[in-house]
Amino acid sequence: MLRSLLLYLSDAAWARSLITRFPFARRTAMRFVAGERVEDAIAAIGALQARGIHATLDHLGESVTNEAEALRAAEDYVHALDKIAASGVGANISIKLTQLGLDLGQEFCLGNVRCLAEKANITGNFVRIDMEGTPHLERTLTVFRALRQDFENVGLVVQAYLYRTEADLLALTVGSHPARLRLCKGAYNELPDLAFPRKTDVDANFVKLTRLLFERARALPPTQAAASGNGRVPPLPAIATHDEKMIAAAVASAAELGLPRDRFEFQMLYGIRRERQEQLAAEDYAVRVYVPYGTQWYPYFVRRLAERPANLWFFVSNLFKR
Ligand code: FDA
Repeated sequence: MLRSLLLYLSDAAWARSLITRFPFARRTAMRFVAGERVEDAIAAIGALQARGIHATLDHLGESVTNEAEALRAAEDYVHALDKIAASGVGANISIKLTQLGLDLGQEFCLGNVRCLAEKANITGNFVRIDMEGTPHLERTLTVFRALRQDFENVGLVVQAYLYRTEADLLALTVGSHPARLRLCKGAYNELPDLAFPRKTDVDANFVKLTRLLFERARALPPTQAAASGNGRVPPLPAIATHDEKMIAAAVASAAELGLPRDRFEFQMLYGIRRERQEQLAAEDYAVRVYVPYGTQWYPYFVRRLAERPANLWFFVSNLFKR
């Protein structure tokens, strides 16, 4: 119930306007956000790189309601791709289609993402499309499929909490040019007719889908399934979780299938389980951290609170600090 309430708040304009007025809220959110400027994010990525960890850069923002804002978001990402190239770090970008105008028109959004894919192509980079709530799922798949006709360097996220994801995953990875997918549990408020309501079922599906992704990765020649040398294009599957049981299941599955450690990657969020990130990297697993930056931190931050009550207590305890 607490999770549903927080997910509702993450999307509520009145709650955003109220909570973002308090300096302690911003201060607490900065535990999960690298800063407000792209330079802050690049510095955080440099520090991760020094520890053998790659990154994916997220310029925070979603659900934009006017074209100028969506175009500005696309320009900011082009600028970020230039910054990544100039600094030489092993980072790609993660984008949300509602930040790039999906609610304003599919073709308009596709045009914006196309610009990013082109820029990424030129700079040896990769664009990951995050998956948002189910009202955007079909349109996200349509935009992704359209892009994939022209670009190899785009990937998508799939969510283990949805009943339909197994079928989507199989369709997206069929053939000789399977999509590079990030598997996560799913972070939005979904109805029980679309998503497993029980965590145990989500977890079981996550383990099953991890194995399917690994089987697909193993069937491909390394040149096609592996990461690029500059650390920007990820290997075919990415397993995004902080859950020790999911990590252990992925490790066991890869070992059983004989899938080498550099043919998939673990992904975690900035500021969460830092020691575990380092430990996996030290064990020669590929690790990538999702590094968000920007001023639009409210919905991202509240979704993090919904995921883990301990994060909520951290937030509440900050209330009483100066
Ligand atoms: P979950 O929240 O189920 O927690 C399980 C266990 O993990 C906990 O009981 C605890 O043991 C451990 N754990 C979790 N947080 C911890 C912490 N801070 N410290 C210690 N232990 C902790 N979602 C989405 O819908 N679309 C998307 O595009 C993305 N993209 C994305 C990218 C990346 C890189 C990540 C890591 C996640 C996403 N997500 C996402 C979010 C995802 O769907 C999910 O909501 C969160 O990752 C939380 O689920 P977990 O699998 O981490 O474990």
